[in-house]
Amino acid sequence: MQRKAIGLIGWGTVGGGVVEILSRDRGLFAERCAIDLDLTTIVTRDPGRVREHSAGSARISNDISAITNDPDIGVVVHLVGGTTEAKDLLAACLKAGKHVVTANKALIAVHGDELFALAAQHRVGIAFEAAVAGGIPIIAALRDGLVANRIHAISAILNGTCNFILTKMEQENWGYDAALAEAQRLGYAEADPTLDVDGTDTAHKLAILARIAFNGRIPLAKVRTQGIQQLTAQDIASARTMGARIKLLAVARQRESGLELRVAPTLVPLDHPLAAVNKNANGIAIESSSAGPTLLTGLGAGALPTASAVLADVIDVVSGRYQATAGAFRFFHGGSDLAFVAEIDEVTATYARFVVADKPGVLAGVATALSKHGANVLSIHQGQADPAGRATIEVVTHPLRLGSMQAAVNEIDRSGLTITTTTLLRRL
Ligand code: HSE
Repeated sequence: MQRKAIGLIGWGTVGGGVVEILSRDRGLFAERCAIDLDLTTIVTRDPGRVREHSAGSARISNDISAITNDPDIGVVVHLVGGTTEAKDLLAACLKAGKHVVTANKALIAVHGDELFALAAQHRVGIAFEAAVAGGIPIIAALRDGLVANRIHAISAILNGTCNFILTKMEQENWGYDAALAEAQRLGYAEADPTLDVDGTDTAHKLAILARIAFNGRIPLAKVRTQGIQQLTAQDIASARTMGARIKLLAVARQRESGLELRVAPTLVPLDHPLAAVNKNANGIAIESSSAGPTLLTGLGAGALPTASAVLADVIDVVSGRYQATAGAFRFFHGGSDLAFVAEIDEVTATYARFVVADKPGVLAGVATALSKHGANVLSIHQGQADPAGRATIEVVTHPLRLGSMQAAVNEIDRSGLTITTTTLLRRL
């Protein structure tokens, strides 16, 4: 039996999950992998805080050198959020010759190239299964199981908080704010939940998946990103009448002229498998050259699912497997410069919600702009105006080029016909 000393930086929600699983299942890992995972040191900002799960005999410190100066520790679990201090701490571990397992997707998506170069320089690895889709082993699936395939497309629900909010709003009529507060209470949300609801967290995860799937550098700016903040109960109810469910969908699709990357609220038909991915679950549909369609679903956020991915990486690293696979395939080492395309050429049915003043000529103005850009209206509905004289016009179109519909909506918004920015959704 090999004993392996582990350090942990960051004892928050996921760190707590790691401590809990290790205290419960250390014996199981020993039996299954012949490795004794010994959490010897925890570095946390708040060493005195009373915790739900005891860390046994682990030393607890607020000083990173308790880990970096300890020659016994070969692998560090890095569970620190953000991209400034978190980056320095990760780099310090690499420079000290420690392998790092991290759940920080922002760091990998934004600074991956630099950090992996530093890791290579110090002959250590960075493992990041927990950075994408919590407990779903999607990185291992792309890296190992599907390695013999060309990936054509990835369509995914990658943010548990957004999916939880949308599910609660749809199935239980919860308000947006109450659903977000509950997601925070359950430990799904980022420290700053704006990153969840504005689509940034999903964009980080998509950039990481695309990096591996399409083997090239993915500048985050190439991921066109929209969040869920402007969705209303009315949008969600209307989606239902259209036989669809709104999901914050991340899509990476190889088109003839380049790679399309986007994150946007999308109408997912009820008979599509991703429509059945609810609450804090994530789901990833992959289309590949030989395996064909593959679907992975599971819990994408929360302490234990994420800690499960962290510990899978720890076992991979301490057993030497990670260095053999990730090292051999050079993830985040170089890769080609990819060509990118915007999604405007996609042909899709659309739904638009215009908030307008209830007065003559407004409907005609909306209809004129839609007609000018070639939108063929499938259905149109205007509800009664509210006491302030604001009316909502909902339009569903036949499939058209998304760019044409966007141009019509932009023209309508610019013309002053609408009171708030129009919500435009496409269909998967
Ligand atoms: N805030 C993230 C989510 C946590 O809600 O999915 C997992 O990355």
